[in-house]
Amino acid sequence: MVSPKASSVTKQTVILITGATGAIGGALAKRYAAPGVTLCLQGRDEAALEQISSQCISLGADVRSYAIDMLNIPALMDWLKQLDEHSPVDLFIANAGININIGADCSGESEVEMVQLLDLNIKATLVMSSYLAKLMRQRGRGKIALISSLAGFYGLPIMPSYCASKAAVKAYGEALRGGLSGTGVGVTVVMPGNIESAMCDAMPGPKPFLMTPEHAARIIQQGIDRNAARVSFPFPLNMGSWCLAVLPAFISQRILHVLGYNRTAD
Ligand SMILES: NC(=O)c1ccc[n+]([C@@H]2O[C@H](COP(=O)([O-])OP(=O)(O)OC[C@H]3O[C@@H](n4cnc5c(N)ncnc54)[C@H](OP(=O)(O)O)[C@@H]3O)[C@@H](O)[C@H]2O)c1
Repeated sequence: MVSPKASSVTKQTVILITGATGAIGGALAKRYAAPGVTLCLQGRDEAALEQISSQCISLGADVRSYAIDMLNIPALMDWLKQLDEHSPVDLFIANAGININIGADCSGESEVEMVQLLDLNIKATLVMSSYLAKLMRQRGRGKIALISSLAGFYGLPIMPSYCASKAAVKAYGEALRGGLSGTGVGVTVVMPGNIESAMCDAMPGPKPFLMTPEHAARIIQQGIDRNAARVSFPFPLNMGSWCLAVLPAFISQRILHVLGYNRTAD
């Protein structure tokens, strides 16, 4: 009998996960770890990479780990080219990301940090996805999951660049999916709410419906398995965030003000 964890993958499936040293990436790595799966795990923290790699190996996966800073995009693309030549990627989960905010005094984001955020969350994510999408299209198979956020539905005053970056990832993933329709390549845009992680801890503002990374990973895997166009969760926060995007802007602005998303500290 095939276990639920192994049901989503075929033999010798190659899965590339960026940000595997983080909370969501690590939970996804463990979720996909099974005999017959080659996991290519990226992170920067070598100790954390080693730890998640051994956990996945103990679950039966063949693991290759790569300590790479994705801000060096030419080097990143050289690495990706070599990786796919050696082990053609079946599933790419573009998960690595950072968050910044306007500061405790609400003075605004650091421009240096903004550039890093935009380079990682948008540039690196999009160019990797584009490159692999072309190769998957030639092969007539493959899946790409882009980790956006519910914060991509509407701009939160406390973290403008993060919201902008996640809106960009959402739009890119939707476009990519449409363009690849009928080619055998699936694209899923993932929009989680608040998930327990270092990033979430550091984020100011309310964090309703906080969820564990393990729970989030299960929902994400199920969405990728059924080739969902969008996996956005949890339901109440998803509904609320979606409403912000479709309501008249002055109402959405007012709601965010009342909920406390316009300030980092009281
Ligand atoms: N947590 C949430 O509430 C939440 C909600 C919605 C969406 N998301 C999205 O989910 C994804 C994962 O977030 P998380 O909560 O799991 O955060 P996390 O625990 O802070 O993990 C972030 C990951 O990104 C990697 N990373 C950061 N900067 C990098 C760089 N320059 N080059 C390469 N890798 C880099 C980190 O690697 P090292 O630690 O090794 O440096 C780490 O593996 C992000 O895209 C985030 O925006 C999170």
